[in-house]
Amino acid sequence: MKRIGILISGRGSNCEAIAKNVLAGNIPGAEIAAVIANRTSAAGLDIARGMGLEAIALPSRGLDREAYDAQLIGELNARNVDLVCLAGYMRLLSASFIRAFPMRILNIHPSLLPAFPGLDAQHQAFDYGVKISGCTVHFVDEHLDHGPIILQAPVPVLMGDTADTLSSRILLEEHKIYSEAIRIVISGRYRIEGRTVILEG
Ligand code: GAR
Repeated sequence: MKRIGILISGRGSNCEAIAKNVLAGNIPGAEIAAVIANRTSAAGLDIARGMGLEAIALPSRGLDREAYDAQLIGELNARNVDLVCLAGYMRLLSASFIRAFPMRILNIHPSLLPAFPGLDAQHQAFDYGVKISGCTVHFVDEHLDHGPIILQAPVPVLMGDTADTLSSRILLEEHKIYSEAIRIVISGRYRIEGRTVILEG
């Protein structure tokens, strides 16, 4: 079994979608080791507890990045986590954290990277006037929203859309492709050449 640690900061809808798929057996070989939030108020913690998962509040406020990430590494290693999934985790990771889980950290980002990295990607794309946006699941490297891309889903901008209606439709796709990307990574049926993830089989 590969043990997944999910890191969140807030609402936790991606975490919930992943957990539902794992609990339903849709991601063979995966189990959820823990859900950890860097904010005590993260709504996703209650959702995770309600699903019978271990949900841990590990507040980051006031701690510098290295000190906090050392705690996080400790919590994840104590639970033998194989794969770390960032699901709306709104805090940059230190180089030490990334080295602790080399090519074993995934992130979901609500745009078609490399367009619109950073905060409020859906609003950035909408305000820019793009006709197609979407979402991306990628391996995490030491640069923001940058590592090799595993899956992307396009979402067209429709007449009458607002940034919020666009965000909602992107979120529906996020919930689908994150579990699919985890399934691919856990199956091991991929290889990475340069920054290209080549899916096998
Ligand atoms: C999601 O839209 C996710 O893609 C985004 O935060 C939201 C979290 O929602 N992540 C980022 O912007 C990371 N750069 P959720 O807590 O309901 O999953």
